[in-house]
Amino acid sequence: MKLILLGPPGAGKGTQAQYLQNKLSIAKLSTGDMLRAAVASGSELGKRAKDIMESGGLVPDDLVVDLIRTRIAQSDCSSGFILDGFPRTLGQAEALDNMLKSENKHIDFVIELKVNDAELTKRIAGRFSCTKCGIGYHDDFKKTKVAGVCDECGSKEFTRRADDNVETVAARLQAYHKQTAPLLPYYKNRGVLVSVDGMAEIEEVRKQIDDIVKIKEKIT
Ligand code: AP5
Ligand code: MG
Repeated sequence: MKLILLGPPGAGKGTQAQYLQNKLSIAKLSTGDMLRAAVASGSELGKRAKDIMESGGLVPDDLVVDLIRTRIAQSDCSSGFILDGFPRTLGQAEALDNMLKSENKHIDFVIELKVNDAELTKRIAGRFSCTKCGIGYHDDFKKTKVAGVCDECGSKEFTRRADDNVETVAARLQAYHKQTAPLLPYYKNRGVLVSVDGMAEIEEVRKQIDDIVKIKEKIT
């Protein structure tokens, strides 16, 4: 199965992608995570991406398309993948279409997580993740079971993202509405867009996505 999770910053793409990766046992490809790893490693790509990410803008298409092209060619993507945060521009969507077409493949569903801007800001402001295993949490909406201890790996170290501040969030939202929202009609016209109520609680959003994935499992 090949899925795209589409939605504004803080909509829950990463949270649901993590769940789907475990449920479907397929690879999760998050361009945000890949770019943050490149920044942390100090690679040439990381140096080019760092300031753009911290300002809330989008990294140039050619850089992220190359990242995805390389990643999709790896063997763990042969049975499917979940794209989190890619594509984000029409240019990226077209490049992805061409990549898949050359192998007679196609996207099964583009799942849009619909959330309003006020809620997004709250979600981003309270987000943190485990430094060791990367699992995501929220100060109010998804707390660790034991305060200060990761549920998954027991680590006591947590990280907050450099771009999770008020100024950058405004720029990220603007980039979403201007550059990424045009992908909604693009995928609607292809008949693969399904929207879910991303304002619901995490478990409820998960159930809505489960229903979409089940439809596909019944067909194949
Ligand atoms: P990226 O890392 O993709 O960030 P983003 O799109 O801004 O999205 P987020 O990761 O902030 O949100 P999310 O939807 O994953 O929400 P989450 O599940 O964490 O990209 C970062 C930057 O990299 C970009 O700004 C850009 O510069 C660059 N970049 C990346 N991809 C690119 C591309 N393709 N092209 C160009 N540039 C690119 O949830 C948020 C919080 O809310 C969490 O704390 C979570 O616990 C909580 N939460 C989740 N769901 C719910 C719910 N239903 N109810 C209550 N709380 C919830
Ligand atoms: Mg994310």
